[in-house]
Amino acid sequence: MSDKLIIFDTTLRDGEQSPGASMTKDEKIRIARQLERLKVDVIEAGFAAASQGDFEAIQAIATSVREPIICSLSRANDRDISRAAEALKSAQRKRIHTFIATSPLHMEKKLRMTPDQVFEQAKQAVRFARQFTDDVEFSPEDGSRSDMDFLCRVIEAVIAEGATTINFADTVGYGVPELYGTMLKNLRERIPNSDKAIWSVHCHNDLGMAVANSLAGVMIGGARQVECTINGLGERAGNTALEEIVMAVRTRRDHFKLDCNIDTTQIVATSKLVSQITGFAVQPNKAVVGANAFAHASGIHQDGVLKARDTYEIMRAEDVGWSANKIVLGKLSGRNAFKQRLEELGIALESEADVNAAFTRFKELADRKSEIFDEDIMSLVSDEEHAHGNEYYRFVSLVQHSETGERPAAKIVFSMDTKEVTCNGHGNGPVDAIVNAIESTTQSGAELLLFSVNAITTGTQSQGEVTMRLSRAGRIVNGVGADPDIVVASAKAYLSALNKLHSKVEKLNPQL
Ligand code: KIV
Ligand code: ZN
Repeated sequence: MSDKLIIFDTTLRDGEQSPGASMTKDEKIRIARQLERLKVDVIEAGFAAASQGDFEAIQAIATSVREPIICSLSRANDRDISRAAEALKSAQRKRIHTFIATSPLHMEKKLRMTPDQVFEQAKQAVRFARQFTDDVEFSPEDGSRSDMDFLCRVIEAVIAEGATTINFADTVGYGVPELYGTMLKNLRERIPNSDKAIWSVHCHNDLGMAVANSLAGVMIGGARQVECTINGLGERAGNTALEEIVMAVRTRRDHFKLDCNIDTTQIVATSKLVSQITGFAVQPNKAVVGANAFAHASGIHQDGVLKARDTYEIMRAEDVGWSANKIVLGKLSGRNAFKQRLEELGIALESEADVNAAFTRFKELADRKSEIFDEDIMSLVSDEEHAHGNEYYRFVSLVQHSETGERPAAKIVFSMDTKEVTCNGHGNGPVDAIVNAIESTTQSGAELLLFSVNAITTGTQSQGEVTMRLSRAGRIVNGVGADPDIVVASAKAYLSALNKLHSKVEKLNPQL
């Protein structure tokens, strides 16, 4: 058995299935480039048949990200598989990942298919996918709630058809480490051709055990691929967190005796990028990437760490990419320094005109804020991408008035399509006043599900990053906005969410 653990990142596919986490093509390319820098082995770039947007994003990633294997998900049918193959055409190394549900519940209630029909369709799908690539992954969806005999029958058949990776999915996070690991072990022992495939784990975090289940699948079950997402992003309670798996295996190499290719110093930058693009904040006490993960508040701990670091620290903050916030640029930095920093951050803007526009924004920000950090540049580029995307609603300016004992008032100017509008509103607080002012004109009818503010860096000079999650007619979107003035950041976040609702992207969820 190999001692290498393959890291398969599905942030852009399963991660994107979280309500509101949908990303634009440019955002996905930025994340894929960062995943390449992180040195993941496989990037699941999307589900090509889901929408034209997904198809194009996979195509663009396959063209521009050359090191990792690029993968597309597809249901077990010819149309989905052809679409995945088409999107992956220009990839240096490509994988088609096809799946079908195998649990009695899913087969009967969701697919309305008999086990024999599912068996035939799984075989047929793998055979068809092999016409496009030698690298075909098969997942029995809801595998952990499937019947063992049936699983053995299906998996043996798909391996015989040429599946090179078998991904044992704990789709609803029902697994318990010992049981999940043992089930995988039994499958590998019972299936005669099991050694012809690499076995993979794919766990959801509904009971908070995704990482534990994945590691049990590796240690007890002999899996050598882990499917995971940055920050554990994913539907419901999320997927297995990449950073936790990687740091567990690295820190406890004595136990796991496995290695992976990941450049751990890129972990924090990747986590911040994903959180900033999706608007899914990382909880402060989140392992490895939470703001408090390496903070020692108690006197005893601080004293211990000062005397000997390993008294209370099992990992070094710098090994996962935490460094004291670096002031990278300031008011006097020139265009070349700015451009070089963009390159170092892996941000490739499309044209010199885009660099100029981002540089102008940078100068505006530097006038208001003397120290500019990497995080500021990343959010500024996101803003620029939105402006560039000819969005329907665009923030122009606002005036806001709050005084103790008075009801806050706001006036905002923004453009709707090409027309500039000015509207006024009052509210319980300044943000409420801004939202009321915007709604007095847009009348979106959207419901605000979440409003959160985070400081991008440290200190009161920091930009505030606001996430607004809106829901309308069953669709949920996240808008993100950043500015040193958190009321302006809130207005930008609200307008960004309205833009997403306006764009009416119709997207298929593979698991529905
Ligand atoms: O959770 C799941 O079952 C999946 C499959 C498509 C692998 O995401
Ligand atoms: Zn999943």
